[in-house]
Amino acid sequence: MKKQWWQEEVIYQIYPKSFNDSNGDGIGDIQGIIEKLDYLKDLGVTMLWICPIYKSPMDDNGYDISDYYAIEAQFGNMEDLEELIEKAKEKNIKIILDLVINHTSDEHEWFQKALADKSSKYHDYYIFKEGVKEPNNWRSVFGGSVWEKVSERNEYYLHCFGKKQPDLNWENKELRKRLYDMVNWWLEKGIAGFRIDAITFIKKDLSWESQAPDGVDGLVKCTKVSRNQPGIGIFLNELKENTFNKYQCMTVAEAPGVPYEELDEFIGDNGYFSMIFDFRYADLDIASGSEWFKRIDWNIKELNEKVMASQLAIQKYGWGANFIENHDQPRAATKYLRNHAADDRAVKTLAAMYFFLRGVPFIYQGQELGMMNFKRDSIDEFDDLSSIDQYYRSIQEGYSAEEALNFVNLRSRDNSRTPFPWNGEKYGGFSEVVPWIKMTEEYPEINVEKQTGKKNSILEFYRDMIWFRQKGPYREIFIYGKIEPMESDENVIAYKRYTEKECVYCWFNFSDCNIEVSVPEETMNLIWQTYGKAELKKDKLKLLPFQSAFLVSK
Ligand code: NOJ
Repeated sequence: MKKQWWQEEVIYQIYPKSFNDSNGDGIGDIQGIIEKLDYLKDLGVTMLWICPIYKSPMDDNGYDISDYYAIEAQFGNMEDLEELIEKAKEKNIKIILDLVINHTSDEHEWFQKALADKSSKYHDYYIFKEGVKEPNNWRSVFGGSVWEKVSERNEYYLHCFGKKQPDLNWENKELRKRLYDMVNWWLEKGIAGFRIDAITFIKKDLSWESQAPDGVDGLVKCTKVSRNQPGIGIFLNELKENTFNKYQCMTVAEAPGVPYEELDEFIGDNGYFSMIFDFRYADLDIASGSEWFKRIDWNIKELNEKVMASQLAIQKYGWGANFIENHDQPRAATKYLRNHAADDRAVKTLAAMYFFLRGVPFIYQGQELGMMNFKRDSIDEFDDLSSIDQYYRSIQEGYSAEEALNFVNLRSRDNSRTPFPWNGEKYGGFSEVVPWIKMTEEYPEINVEKQTGKKNSILEFYRDMIWFRQKGPYREIFIYGKIEPMESDENVIAYKRYTEKECVYCWFNFSDCNIEVSVPEETMNLIWQTYGKAELKKDKLKLLPFQSAFLVSK
């Protein structure tokens, strides 16, 4: 693969609402991010992905945009954003924004005009169908029918996500052109690119036919008929050629539903995007093709297989975007480490395992502190619209209220949206007033102040790890090297990273026992470990519980 500037990035994802409140209203904001740029610089990250800050009624916390060209007042204004871009640049930190172009908010001017006048050109910017009942049985991602009735008209509009997020009609050429103009307008402002939301949803099955139901509600997941549908490539190519390509920017697409065989089209040399997120191992606790409440057990061997299958498939064609957390996922420590979530050794091994994979590492705010899921006692304590739907739908499917609450506690998107704990004071230094969403229980212990400068803390570990990839002696291998899985113990994930000249062998012990693994040569050097001292004797490496160790040939 040809070298690209963005392969060297380490990206930090900010959920603005929960990062830092600078104006005392309990909600994080852009000035709050500016205040913390030194923290981010010291951590060593090189790029920030800022979740949506555009004008929005905030029904889905900004993924429902009512004006693409304005900033949501809760977060600040356009000058604040320009200041952030500029100040970050002074520190050599690039900014990417979220691009949400599958849908808008129902409060967007285009949708309002479409509602007001059926014969206006804006009516065709969205997907409306005439009739006295829902045109088909498709279920939206957040629950209920994808169709919402237009009041006082025998007409429905389509929304693959929430009711207040009507899907745009990508079949309309003028609409597409207006989106491209908007994308270019933002790129002109000097951002480095975009994380692109739900982009595989832009093409629908135009037959609009009902499908066999997959739940007791008689509906069927809309993803089967509205995600990565034939013909989507025409739109994606057009998007790329009219926007991204002109700026050589970086794009990372949320593109669920893309089979590995199609990766070439998405991330190959002439692909639509620089990278896409692969959710296969992030969703390893969910029964395939199912909902969050249908959970399955899994073991390290399966995690290993999924991670490696993803790496090898991506390596064949392009470049990966590696993550263990984001604003839609529960905290990684709780999800992947289960009973060992609070064990720093395990948190570090999990971090190192994904961080040194081939691709750009993404770190989600709070991950670098080892934050964990919360435990809420009532569904009334949840903010996330999809968790509320999941709760009631699992009850409808026959689970008890207690089981339903357990599902959402484990999987709710609110888990990663709790306020960022800067210190152990009231509201964790995030805000001076009650935050918009409850803090995690552990914030007096798990916070930046407690971990800064503290030997062996998770935060200091992340700082070292980032330095090791970016500036250490094996930088060339960690950034550009290929990856190959290695056989090992069933509780150990092992891979090698290599260039033509050199190879680093990496083992990650995911058990609470000592494990001895065979190493490929008798003469090797131990170059790095996540804690303690691994023992290397001839061709045997003894790993301590939850320890990772890296070797090179002498
Ligand atoms: C994916 C985003 O990550 C999520 O937060 C959002 O709710 C949906 N897309 C809809 O925009």
